[in-house]
Amino acid sequence: NNTFSTLFVGQNLIKLKEVDSTNNFLKNLVSKSEPLPEGTVIMADNQFAGRGQQESVWQTEAGKNISTSIYLRPSFLPLNKQFYLNIAVSLAVSDALSCFLPEAVQVKWPNDIYTNGKKLGGILIENTLTGSFIKSSVIGIGLNINQQGFRADLSTKATSVIQILQKETPLEAVMEKIVVFMEKYYLILKSGNYAILQNDYLKRLYKFDTLADYQQNGQIFEGKITGVEESGRLVMETAGGLRSFNFKEIEFIHTQ
Ligand code: BTN
Repeated sequence: NNTFSTLFVGQNLIKLKEVDSTNNFLKNLVSKSEPLPEGTVIMADNQFAGRGQQESVWQTEAGKNISTSIYLRPSFLPLNKQFYLNIAVSLAVSDALSCFLPEAVQVKWPNDIYTNGKKLGGILIENTLTGSFIKSSVIGIGLNINQQGFRADLSTKATSVIQILQKETPLEAVMEKIVVFMEKYYLILKSGNYAILQNDYLKRLYKFDTLADYQQNGQIFEGKITGVEESGRLVMETAGGLRSFNFKEIEFIHTQ
């Protein structure tokens, strides 16, 4: 029921006009109808209860953006290598957007999609586990494509493809690139070539090797991102030496 040029990602495609959240919908489907074909994709024109990282709300204008969830079963991936899935997805999404944008598309740790210092989209990965391995993954991707404006509090921090190009981009074309690159990076992940993933991730990491201000518990400090540990912790060179941070432990300070 579609024309994606992939082997399995997006071959089972469910398109919805409106849903609370494509991640919720897919998680529900997984729990009801296992085994769902790996690579199943949910796409929605509109989400009325889209979810973001750290319990935040993901709000977008109906019909203008990419709101999608992809079902994968990376059961080969031990929990201590879980972050490589985030890396594979971040690389896939940033490669997909790079096909449409003249500027570099970057990844802000851990997996926000950035260009020109502004957020273009985000990723919400929800895993189920068996023992110390991942059983299944629901990979939610939200991208600002043809949405012109943003809420006042977001307008200095968010952007969209249309704000950059000044013209509409067909959502199907973006989706085709997402599934193609998702399949590519998923197969690299499966092959166990973690070095490639790590290397490509650092190459497009926002503020990598650049001195910038960060905030932890209200304290502002200067640091330079030097790497990311296998566990996903961000490694930074600071006045007090090398330090590493967990997802919720640190905030980037916006300079724009
Ligand atoms: C973030 O940056 O906070 C992550 C945003 C993830 C949004 C996507 S849209 C499709 C999928 N369904 C959801 O409810 N959330 C993700």
